Amino acid sequence: MYFDSHAHLDSHRFDADREEVLRAVREAKVSRVMNVGCDVQSSRACIALAEENDGFYAAVGSHPDDAGNFTEETANIYRELASHPKVKAIGEIGLDYYYKDNPPDVQKIAFLRQMELAQELRLPVIIHDRDAHGDCLEIVRQFPSVKGVFHCFSGSSEFAQELIKLGWYVGFTGVVTFPNARKALEAVKAVPIDRILAETDCPYMAPVPHRGQRCHSGLVPITIARLGELRGLSQEEMGRITAENACRLFQI
Ligand code: NI
Repeated sequence: MYFDSHAHLDSHRFDADREEVLRAVREAKVSRVMNVGCDVQSSRACIALAEENDGFYAAVGSHPDDAGNFTEETANIYRELASHPKVKAIGEIGLDYYYKDNPPDVQKIAFLRQMELAQELRLPVIIHDRDAHGDCLEIVRQFPSVKGVFHCFSGSSEFAQELIKLGWYVGFTGVVTFPNARKALEAVKAVPIDRILAETDCPYMAPVPHRGQRCHSGLVPITIARLGELRGLSQEEMGRITAENACRLFQI
């Protein structure tokens, strides 16, 4: 049994053949998937997928790319959506200083407000942090009761250890299968085994040998096999551990 802790199977890139993809996911023994919202519309779509599929869960939230549209009304919608029994997290939220679709100050307001919401609702969070490690850490530190995962982790092993000390989890994608992934591999080795999550971030980040193609949750076992190899564990064992970790974080 495998758990893909971060997917976007609601993406329009699956509209033409979603049923076929979902069959491939099940055939790959990926029996649990967390689909993560990026705005109100996709958050609703993730909940719909969770209603239609056993073992599927949803996170609701506004991605930093959508921070410019985030208002108090948006927060109220997420509060209501979060009462659905299959909503297990607030996400994905955070900061993206690589694309900077919105100015950092606008991103920070949306991030802070959604951290407050997670605190109020006692839900874990899923953090998107791209080139914004320092500011993300500073905001996370302001909410000691909120735990979560830094997904598609791109920081140093030192940064990973900071997060571990705060009780957080670290999520790894197919990037760990790329030949130039030195930094990610160091982070995998630095994180305690009970804090590692496996994810696809599909339709992006397909692992080797599918790199560059559309990714889906059925490819997460490839990433898990690589994580296991790095930690001296079988694919099966690593699959069990990463699934247990995700269930613990998301209270499933
Ligand atoms: Ni994502």
